[in-house]
Amino acid sequence: MSVHQEDYKRITTHVLMSMKEKGEKISMLTAYDYTLAKIVDHAGIDVILVGDSASNVMAGHETTLPITLDQMIYHASSVVRAVERALVVVDLPFGSYQGNSKNALESSIRIMKESGGHAVKLEGGFEIKESVARILSAGVPVMGHLGLTPQSIYKFGTYTVRAKEQEEAEKLLADAKLLEELGCFAIVLEKIPAKLAKKVSSSLRIPTIGIGAGPGVDGQVLVLHDMLGLNQNFSPRFLRRYLDLYDQVHGAVGQYVADVKSGDFPNAKEQY
Ligand code: KIV
Repeated sequence: MSVHQEDYKRITTHVLMSMKEKGEKISMLTAYDYTLAKIVDHAGIDVILVGDSASNVMAGHETTLPITLDQMIYHASSVVRAVERALVVVDLPFGSYQGNSKNALESSIRIMKESGGHAVKLEGGFEIKESVARILSAGVPVMGHLGLTPQSIYKFGTYTVRAKEQEEAEKLLADAKLLEELGCFAIVLEKIPAKLAKKVSSSLRIPTIGIGAGPGVDGQVLVLHDMLGLNQNFSPRFLRRYLDLYDQVHGAVGQYVADVKSGDFPNAKEQY
């Protein structure tokens, strides 16, 4: 654990609020399976996001749209079984909450009951306010997500930086304030100008977690497979790679293949 990290036994939404008050940055990463979630939790992460990016990195889809509620519940329940300390937030997938607050509540209840996750995350602001309010009324904590919202990729047309123009920036700030008023406990800000992210963060009491939103936010999130270097074809400016796991796994598998072919594996000590 880092020297700047208090030894919280269990991260709750209240702990995240007090981290913001104390100026302690929040660390968040995605995870989608038991084995990696266990490592990430043991390494001291504050929040694990079971992101709908599972649609891309686990299932190989081009967008996050195809992943289903059942599939999200499968990933989330695997993660929850591994986690002892982190707060586990689960993405509501595309089609499970937009335009229908009853559907949003039912989807959230399924996630909480069937996966054991601790909170849900939804993309959008004003357009989904009824859904957010209804989920919150059932006592389910909600994390917001503004800026680049990948479930709307066919509306945006590209994955470029959002809210560069004043009108969109003003709407984003208003949406962030609305989500706070409704009762969200945190908001992800994805791929927006650092100056705007800082302004939004200082206008809110609840923490903001940035991805491609600069340092002026209250925490940072990355997709685990990207920061571990498992995904060679994704190199946005905001991504810091902490490992080159693609090369390492490629090398190890290549060596195994060679050892099997040559008869070097198994050796005398590797048999009964
Ligand atoms: O699904 C996801 O991984 C996300 C993060 C990029 C914030 O929403």
